[in-house]
Amino acid sequence: MRMRNKQRKTTILGWNAGSRCSMPAMVWSLVGFLLLLHFYSTLHKTDKAEETRLQMSHHSFQELQVVEEENIQIPPPRRRSPRAAKRRPRKKTTLIDEFLDENSQIRHVFFPDHRSAIDPTKDTGNDSFYYFPGRMWLDTEGIPIQAHGGGIMFDPLSRMYYWYGEYQDVPTFIAPKGLARVDIIGVGCYSSKDLQTWKNEGIVLAAEEANETHDLHKSNVLERPKVIYNEKTGKYVMWMHIDDANYTKAAVGVAISDYPTGPFDYIYSKQPHGFESRDMTIFKDDDGMAYLVYSSEDNSELHIAPLTEDYLDVTPVMKRILVGQHREAPALFKHGETYYMITSGCTGWAPNEALAHAAESIMGPWETVGNPCIGGSKMFKLTTFFAQGTFVLPLAGLPGSFIFMADRWNPADLRDSRYVWLPLIVGGPADWPLEYNFGFPSWSRVSIYWHRKWRLPSGWSDMKR
Ligand code: GAL
Repeated sequence: MRMRNKQRKTTILGWNAGSRCSMPAMVWSLVGFLLLLHFYSTLHKTDKAEETRLQMSHHSFQELQVVEEENIQIPPPRRRSPRAAKRRPRKKTTLIDEFLDENSQIRHVFFPDHRSAIDPTKDTGNDSFYYFPGRMWLDTEGIPIQAHGGGIMFDPLSRMYYWYGEYQDVPTFIAPKGLARVDIIGVGCYSSKDLQTWKNEGIVLAAEEANETHDLHKSNVLERPKVIYNEKTGKYVMWMHIDDANYTKAAVGVAISDYPTGPFDYIYSKQPHGFESRDMTIFKDDDGMAYLVYSSEDNSELHIAPLTEDYLDVTPVMKRILVGQHREAPALFKHGETYYMITSGCTGWAPNEALAHAAESIMGPWETVGNPCIGGSKMFKLTTFFAQGTFVLPLAGLPGSFIFMADRWNPADLRDSRYVWLPLIVGGPADWPLEYNFGFPSWSRVSIYWHRKWRLPSGWSDMKR
């Protein structure tokens, strides 16, 4: 009996009930089926269009892999009196000597003057929306952007990009130990929808004028600020390098705000895990976990540590990475399931060779995969295009494509340091044969391509996120 009932039910649902299936029901079902078909094909078409657009844009980003050469001539030596020449024979100058010499005859090559500035207040015709690494870069009011040693956060709430960095618009002076420095002014913040035109949102964390014992007293050092958003607490959290003028405090500072544009409240500073911390960065993973990476043990190694859930402190877990490699200026990013990092050597404001590193697990082990810089010249490659990395920004909608952000420091006038933004692409085999997995190299190559002028693929801004 039970069995019979069951069978009957099945046949009705299965449209095989013969006389039990009425005409209107059949018509309605047909209409429903056709509607579904239409809906599916529209959806599929949109997917296809989006896919083609993505592929095209990705393709035009790949075109940025064309290698551009630079042939900068070292100027002939200045004339000297025969007596001076005899007293001190001239040393051969290199391009890096010229770069570091503020009176060099080819100064304009590295620090072009305001006439070539990127200026969103002016219609620059064909040059609009191009990046020109090393040129002055003006904000939407026509004033040079002050966001050195910075990083970019995409804010999911306002769907804007925020660029935070050291606001250095004051004169440079030489500290007692001979280091070029500026007083702390604070952290500058700029907002943009297209990563090209930047509106000044003001100083979101300001120096302390009066209290000399405060970390942010103008006589101290505030460098490399980075901001991430905490979904759980709804707060924007800033981490930065806090130091005294002689870099002996070696600590990290933490500040918090309800808004991306601040004001940020400074909470505290500390030496994470009781260790020195100088150049640093923070990185937020896809799963919401965030990490601090800092140069430690006299900059001889990096340390990496997960942050607490509220991002306001480090957890006790810490791993030493790139031990004995003397790396700083870490910039961490992820492609697929692999973590990558670009670091610099430790030569103060002078540029040096960048290296890329890769890891399967963010906590390590990390392996060095080679110098990512391509193009320019041998000297461009050995000096990170006369700059030092600070951040790597993933381009939503273009997997494997990033913007490498670096600072071309000008220790003679730090506020006039320039931004060097270049396309970074992950793909192809790594330079240095490292570990192999079933005969394949474990890591992809990380490449940063030199361009005097480049732009993001057209249409990129419509398809992001
Ligand atoms: C660099 C560092 C910069 C700044 C500079 C001071 O090594 O990356 O952020 O601290 O030294 O000389």
